[in-house]
Amino acid sequence: MTSGGAGRASRRSAHWFAAEGRSGMLYRSWMRNQGFGPEVFDGRPVIGIATTWSELAPCNSHLHRVAEAVKRGVWQAGGFPLEFPVLATGETLMRPTAMLYRNLLAMEAEELIRANPLDGVVLLSGCDKTTPGLLMGAASVDLPAVMVTGGPMLNGKFRGMDVGSGTHVWKFEADIKAGRMSVEEGYAAEGCMARSNGHCMTMGTASTMACMAEALGMQLPGSATWPAVDARRYEVAQQAGRRIVDMVEHDLRPSAILTREAFENAIRANAAIGGSTNAIIHLTALAGRLGVKLPLDDFDALARDVPTIVDLMPSGRFLMEDFCYAGGLPVVLRRLDEAGLLNGAALTVTGRSMAENVAGAQCWNDEVIRPLDAPLQPAGTGTAILRGNLCPNGAVIKQSAASPELMRHTGRALVFDSPEDYHAVCDDDDLDVTPDDVLVIRGAGPKGYPGMPEVANVPLPAKLLRAGVNDMVRISDGRMSGTGYGTVVLHVSPEAAVGGPLALVRTGDRIELDVPARRLTLHVPEEELARRRAEWRPPASPDDGGYRWLYREHVLQADDGADFDFLRGGRGHAVPRDSH
Ligand code: FES
Ligand code: MG
Repeated sequence: MTSGGAGRASRRSAHWFAAEGRSGMLYRSWMRNQGFGPEVFDGRPVIGIATTWSELAPCNSHLHRVAEAVKRGVWQAGGFPLEFPVLATGETLMRPTAMLYRNLLAMEAEELIRANPLDGVVLLSGCDKTTPGLLMGAASVDLPAVMVTGGPMLNGKFRGMDVGSGTHVWKFEADIKAGRMSVEEGYAAEGCMARSNGHCMTMGTASTMACMAEALGMQLPGSATWPAVDARRYEVAQQAGRRIVDMVEHDLRPSAILTREAFENAIRANAAIGGSTNAIIHLTALAGRLGVKLPLDDFDALARDVPTIVDLMPSGRFLMEDFCYAGGLPVVLRRLDEAGLLNGAALTVTGRSMAENVAGAQCWNDEVIRPLDAPLQPAGTGTAILRGNLCPNGAVIKQSAASPELMRHTGRALVFDSPEDYHAVCDDDDLDVTPDDVLVIRGAGPKGYPGMPEVANVPLPAKLLRAGVNDMVRISDGRMSGTGYGTVVLHVSPEAAVGGPLALVRTGDRIELDVPARRLTLHVPEEELARRRAEWRPPASPDDGGYRWLYREHVLQADDGADFDFLRGGRGHAVPRDSH
């Protein structure tokens, strides 16, 4: 396999730009139509900048500017930067869900990196799926790669209070439904929530995955938290541009960084920051690209010793700007290291160890980033993995976003075959529902929806909201937005659409949730379940062909990260056959 590290003549890009004869002329000549002089073909490292820029992905709409800063760094270090677009999976607009396209982004990034004369790549992401999608693709090619996330929006400000993107959408919706807020006030709040470029500034999935990229060692220390419009975002992007050139010279590739130890660091960091449940799916999928074993139960076992110390919405009070100014993720990682909860020797894109990277990190606000002995949530109360006859392959609950009084709860199942079925009746005053019921929203898994959308935290029935009820147990094979909250059992596997036990639940059955015991139990005798199983027929799949067909045919279940079966593992960066 040709890699970038063996010097100029044998660089990967040399197979294109140093080629003799007609081929070399073709490769160089067309590049020169962009105004590049012949010196760029002198054997310097060619650095791709994979950007998920798009005006349809508003969280990533400033990545052109970030790319300019990366290019400055690449030129400074003697490389040749070339920016190229990859699929921008914008969370807010894409239907049925951006998650349907994460694997497509990963596949596109992998193929584009491999097909082109690149020696290394800088990955520009922001919105939720863009970060894991790019990491997955880059891992499967395994050329030197560094990530630069685009940074969060400035804190939302509405009528003197901080409002968090996503989190306050759910709050405002409930306030409007309960009559505490007018629709006009809701319109006014919209604009105040999104005040600048950048991704969600709550500890939602985007902020979580930015922190995961940093905790994995794939982006420079401190990169995750600088706001998208802060000058230091551009400084760190420039540093990444310089750094990738050096990484190419030293052949420092993702496979050396994304080890089992790195994933353990990420899981613990996710517990400490109170991060999104979606990180579980994305880290699992990424580990699958590298052949790193990361069973679902490890997410529980590794996180159990880790308290949540970052006080950010949706679990806490503050937002990403506050986290940044308090010192950002390096402070969290340093505190974990000091408590023996970090694999400090894990290698990172700096070429140094994680412990070395964060040794000098200082905390400037102990309220935002708490000491481990005065946490926001004690150890063992983070994201839990449940087992039981309703989720033989696991399910997930984020305790820090749930209600303590519902952690042990038995109730009557109220079953809906789709989120739409629930929405059609949830505001009816004659809906037969009590606060003790357990809402089951199925048909929202990877195959079933398709794409496993963030629909699991359905709003409560309007009549209960008006009566002052704030939370109920909800169970789904779908996901929840990282900015969401509530006592919601997520990622039930296997999903209903493939005949998982969730498909067999009927309204009136009793379901027991016991989070301290990590159990989720459907109290229906096995003989009755067997009868129902024999009667069960898979829901008809629309014969719509195209990408959705491919997705339904090849997507794995949530406990395998919902990657495609044929994309697991790596396929390297050997130079493909000539094109002319
Ligand atoms: Fe893009 Fe939240 S919607 S990061
Ligand atoms: Mg989201």
